[in-house]
Amino acid sequence: MKKPLRIGLVGYGFMGRTHSNAFRKVGNFFDLEYEPVLQAICARDAAKAQAFADNWGYQSIETDWRKLVERKDIDLIDIGSPNNTHAEIAIAAAKAGKMILCEKPLSMDGKEGAKMVKAIEKAGVANMVWYNYRRVPAVALAKQLIDEGKLGRIFHYRAKFLQDWTISKDLPQGGTGLWRLDAKVAGSGVTGDLLAHCIDTALWLNGRMTTVNAMTETFVKERKHTLTGKVQKVEIDDACAFLAKFDNGSLATFESTRYARGHKALYTFEINGENASIAWDLHDLHRLQYFDYRDEGKLRGWRSIHISDSDHPYMKNWWVPGLQIGYEHTFVHQIADFIQAISKGEKPCPSFRDALDTQYVCDAVLKSAKTQKWEKVPKTKL
Ligand SMILES: NC(=O)c1ccc[n+]([C@@H]2O[C@H](COP(=O)([O-])OP(=O)(O)OC[C@H]3O[C@@H](n4cnc5c(N)ncnc54)[C@H](O)[C@@H]3O)[C@@H](O)[C@H]2O)c1
Repeated sequence: MKKPLRIGLVGYGFMGRTHSNAFRKVGNFFDLEYEPVLQAICARDAAKAQAFADNWGYQSIETDWRKLVERKDIDLIDIGSPNNTHAEIAIAAAKAGKMILCEKPLSMDGKEGAKMVKAIEKAGVANMVWYNYRRVPAVALAKQLIDEGKLGRIFHYRAKFLQDWTISKDLPQGGTGLWRLDAKVAGSGVTGDLLAHCIDTALWLNGRMTTVNAMTETFVKERKHTLTGKVQKVEIDDACAFLAKFDNGSLATFESTRYARGHKALYTFEINGENASIAWDLHDLHRLQYFDYRDEGKLRGWRSIHISDSDHPYMKNWWVPGLQIGYEHTFVHQIADFIQAISKGEKPCPSFRDALDTQYVCDAVLKSAKTQKWEKVPKTKL
């Protein structure tokens, strides 16, 4: 008999759906000690929260996250609301002794993130941030190959995350669905939203980043604000590109924009080592490209590995070899890993502290874009 893990979810948007789907599926595909129970969904609009609860099978609703956090029948608070809500909810949840899952980016900036980490670590509660791309089987395989030393010394890391949905200057900022354009809610633009993913993956695969040199641009300077009805200055970065150096001596380039016409969510990375290179593309997420210089010369070339075999990460839990999985499964893997970690008394990852490292890189990137100088990435010290 599995033990219940009673979930209280905040936010029924895009991430509310991915998380709910993961909570529902995980027990069917992974053999775990705990079974997520959809105890309550919290959002400010009661009718919409009820409709979400009915659709996904939540047993109750709340319209104020403070009430959710106080409830004795909830073990874990899952934060799937916009960035400016993460800190307050997480700190209150930690004080109430709840386990906490939080969407990325951890916080509005490093200072706020550090306060969260302090509170969570003081409370000693299990915690994890939803940097879900770590759980794409192809990306997890990349991590295995690097850790096994297959690439040898790493020289280059190259990542980009391209979208095109904010090109129209008539698009308003703020409010439902458009809070990502409002710096007071999002913290930053593509840096915290998209590059944060690239940075988290990079720190995981390639180690600590030491210095960065960035440029940002806001192409549309003013937009009508949905909530005030007024035309207001746009304070987010629409595009950001930066150079970086890693502790291991490798050099990196990162680029993100919401102005790359034709691209919806093109997250790619390539890593070049002395023996081998790997490349991955979110639009082809079930493949890992691999080149190994040590192959026999006449057969040497890029291999496109179809990540669907039972010896690939996570794949034995799904279908038969040859059949692939997709985006939503990354969230199933992440909650499976979380439950496995707490069952073994281990720390789930990425933890709030891991996510704070990404926040510090984002801060250094935004600072460098202003100073036009190389900036050091501060080490996480609390
Ligand atoms: N891991 C990923 O790949 C990924 C992808 C998208 C979004 N995110 C992150 O997830 C979070 C949510 O993004 P989204 O795309 O789901 O946004 P969304 O706009 O689709 O949904 C946000 C939800 O939060 C609710 N909300 C807002 N303020 C609230 C409050 N004070 N109390 C309760 N509910 C509140 C809204 O009603 C809505 O249901 C953000 O932090 C975002 O950066 C992560």
